[in-house]
Parts: sequence; structure tokens; C-alpha cells
Amino acid sequence: MKQPVKDNYIIAKPFVKWAGGKGSLISQLIGNLPQDFAEQPNVTYIEPFVGGGAMLFYMLTHYPNIKRAVINDVNEDLINCYLLIKNDPEKLIASLREIKEEYYQLATIEAKSHYYYQMREKYNNEELAKDKRAACFIFLNKTCFNGLYRVNTNGKFNVPFGQYDHPNICDEELIMACHRELQKVDIYVGGYKNITRHFGRRYNFIYIDPPYRPLSGSACFIEYTHNIFDDVEQEKLKAYCDTLTQKGCKIMQSNSNSLDDNGESYFAKLYNAYTIKQILAHRFINAHAGKREKETELLIMNY
Ligand SMILES: C[S@@+](CC[C@H](N)C(=O)[O-])C[C@H]1O[C@@H](n2cnc3c(N)ncnc32)[C@H](O)[C@@H]1O
Repeated sequence: MKQPVKDNYIIAKPFVKWAGGKGSLISQLIGNLPQDFAEQPNVTYIEPFVGGGAMLFYMLTHYPNIKRAVINDVNEDLINCYLLIKNDPEKLIASLREIKEEYYQLATIEAKSHYYYQMREKYNNEELAKDKRAACFIFLNKTCFNGLYRVNTNGKFNVPFGQYDHPNICDEELIMACHRELQKVDIYVGGYKNITRHFGRRYNFIYIDPPYRPLSGSACFIEYTHNIFDDVEQEKLKAYCDTLTQKGCKIMQSNSNSLDDNGESYFAKLYNAYTIKQILAHRFINAHAGKREKETELLIMNY
């Protein structure tokens, strides 16, 4: 498929597939930015749970008034990729090219599967240089089942082989497009609160996309890391949003349209002083054909 181009360059977008990726929801997110957003001359754009960065790359490529951005994620290997793409993309591309050439020479799906499991073993158990580790991470993302990132209780990546015909293991143009956009981005690894001291002086816009609360029940089942994002974490995040609101930051948060044990909206209660809108998620509630109803999710805003 041809990639979208601007000024002869392809446009930056996520370089990995990521669970909870916001690519299909962008127009609904943009439609709910603060009304004065585009007129602000000097915006700092902040994403404490950046993941694949679908919203980040969209914002960087469409809003020139974003003068600086700050991103963070708790996933060290994901952030290692962002840092290499920002600072040393050629080194990453060289490592990815090596893997791509080895992989494409393998004639059968069995041989490719064997190679995949060898790489997974290496990723889980060997000390690797930063560029090799990032290349291994991107290779696994492109060839594993559904581009999932999931770890077991020991923190080991455990997603099976995905059996794709032509995975795009080394997308050089895309890496360079992301490299250009990341020049104005400060990149951090760790818990989401760590980046507060790096916010801008004036107009801070924060897009918060945490692990979603399940539609009912309380523990997050998406294992991005081996730490569970449960209701205690959702409540701490709410307290953090209150602190940022007091500092004058504009906040937009995505989360699920989850119900509490009484069948009432969990987030409407928790964020009762905030603006909450339902948007259409690109998932279906009911998997049976004919009865398909689109799931909704929430945008929680302090403006
Ligand atoms: C819903 S995903 C974000 C998806 C992203 N918006 C995208 O478009 O790909 C949630 C992210 O939060 C990260 N995460 C989980 N717990 C965290 C924490 N306590 N602090 C910072 N990041 C965390 C996960 O590693 C994951 O990448």
C-alpha cells in the first residue's frame, strides 16, 4: 500500500502496532480538542502513556503550533526504540536490515517460525546492545500474532508467531519520517507521573491513554507490563488529573465505557466534575453477524 506523502516525504505514523492503538479514533479525538487549541502559538503536547503514538504522530504532523512534546511509557524497550529513532536511526536501520535479509532468505513458514522463536528467546534472555535490542523488538512486533505486546508474570514476552507472508520488517522511510518529527520530542521511560517536571511553562495539552478499565470487573487484562492497572491505579490517575487541572493543564483522557458493580458508569462517578463524551470505538460488542453493535468508549476532558 502507498504511504501518504507530504513535501516528498512520507508522513510519520506509528512504527509499531500497539494494543489500544488510536489510529482509527483520531478524527473523534481531534474533534474534541479544546476550542482554542489551534490558535495557541506555543503548545507543549504531552503523552504520559504513549504506546505506539498514533495521536502523537498525528498531532506533530498537523499542528505546527506544537513547539515541543513530552512523551513517556513504562515499557523500556518501546522507549528504547523511540530514543534510537530520534537519535541514531541509521544504526537501527542497519540492524533491522540484517534481520530482514536473514528472514527473507528463509524459504518455508516452518523456517520463519523457527527464526521467530529464536529471536524471542534472544530478546527474553540475552543482554543486547541498544540498537540490536530495538531491532529485535520491532522484528517481533512485525512478525508476532496480531502485533501484540504481552508478557507473562516473569516479564517475558510470550506472544506466538503470526505467520504473515510479507511483514514490513525494515520500513526505512517510515523510521526516517518518525526521526524528523521526534526532534522536538523529549522522551522518558517510567511511571506516568515522572514527567510532570518536564512540562512547558504555558499551554500544556495532555492526552492520557492509560490501560483501559475492563467493561465490567476491575483488573486490566491487557498485559502491557506485568503490573496490573486496577481500580486503585484508576483512582490514583484521577487524583493526578486533578493536580494537573489545578496547574492549568488541558487534559483529554480516553478510557472504556465501564460499569461498576451497580451497573452504573464507573467513570461518570469518578470524574463527576469533568466533561465526559461517548465516542464510537471501532470494536463490536456482539461478535455474532447480524447483531453487531459498535462499542462506545469515553473521552474525559477538564475543559
Ligand atoms: C492504551 S496503551 C496506549 C496506546 C497508544 N495511545 C497508542 O495509540 O498506541 C497504554 C500504554 O500505557 C503504558 N503503561 C501502562 N502502565 C503505565 C504506567 N504506570 N505509566 C506509564 N505508562 C504505562 C503501556 O506500556 C501502554 O503502552
